[in-house]
Amino acid sequence: MTQRDASKKPGKEVQSTGLFHVIDPQVFQRPLLDELCDLATRVRAVAKRAEGARFLQNLLPTSRAMLYFTQPSTRTFLSFDNACHILGMSTSEIRNPATSSEVKGESFEDGIRTFSSYVDVIVMRTQEPGRAAQAAQLMDTIARPVPIINAGSGSDQHPTQALLDIYTLGRSFSDRGGIDGKIIGLMGDLKRGRTVRSLCYLMKNYSNVSLVFIAPKQFAMQSDVINHLKEHNIPFKETEKLNEVISDLDALYITRMQSEWDEVNESQAVDFTKFSVGPKELSLFKEKGIIMHPLPRGAEIDTTVDMDPRAMYWRQERNGMWMRVAVLLKIFQIEGQIQKLDL
Ligand code: NCD
Repeated sequence: MTQRDASKKPGKEVQSTGLFHVIDPQVFQRPLLDELCDLATRVRAVAKRAEGARFLQNLLPTSRAMLYFTQPSTRTFLSFDNACHILGMSTSEIRNPATSSEVKGESFEDGIRTFSSYVDVIVMRTQEPGRAAQAAQLMDTIARPVPIINAGSGSDQHPTQALLDIYTLGRSFSDRGGIDGKIIGLMGDLKRGRTVRSLCYLMKNYSNVSLVFIAPKQFAMQSDVINHLKEHNIPFKETEKLNEVISDLDALYITRMQSEWDEVNESQAVDFTKFSVGPKELSLFKEKGIIMHPLPRGAEIDTTVDMDPRAMYWRQERNGMWMRVAVLLKIFQIEGQIQKLDL
């Protein structure tokens, strides 16, 4: 996706920081990231009071969203669903293609075009990469295009997760200069984890950030991300040994083994216990470091870690709902309604 495709409604002038389709994390620039994080924080403050919650529900009461999630999802689905409802939107959903006309042989394009006849935004998660981009391209050719939000495209990208991860990092380091200058470890199945892949594409927006990839060789970060980091002079190193780097890290972002993408049980050939965190690893971690995880977790985070103040993943999942409200506010160009509030 180009910047134009992802940020402009065809035929309509929008400001440079406008947002229409959300397909690819690469199009997000720092001013928009900062604006979205600020919006998320403002919205959650407004929602705290019943009167504020009612105000939010009156922002988009006549708008409708389609949640087309044909790949399993708990958090992304629920946080988008609830983000829509917070703004008073109504939602329709397809979660199982067996219940749609796909089983009658309807093409993907015709399905998307049909959804767009009934709703004002389509949020979609698919097994195959590239589907959201394909839907956005289709929208750009029809008379009543609606924005497409990529809620996970195969093992490729998950841009709104990357936004909520940026929000979580920024909030966690708000008393220490924000994300700039931090050392961020990314651990686990980096090859097939779309969350870490998308997050890496946002790092060019922050100064002096360095990345440490901790992964089994077979599941190392892919070359598209590595080349992007080199192109933007973002320092990174790769290791298989968490204990050699953990004390340097400000944040450790852990991911599970994405075994659903196995072709020949390759995940079973790896000792993934080396890429997990428990009390021993925590004892080596900075006192003010943070542990993140997009969830769901496997055995890579011991449940005793949940009690540690550095465990950020439950807050991270809640941040996701507020960030998705912020994304919807931008797409519907009503962010000014929140920005003008005197909080
Ligand atoms: C992630 C996903 O679906 O990519 N979960 C999420 O959206 N919060 C991470 C994962 O499944 O490992």
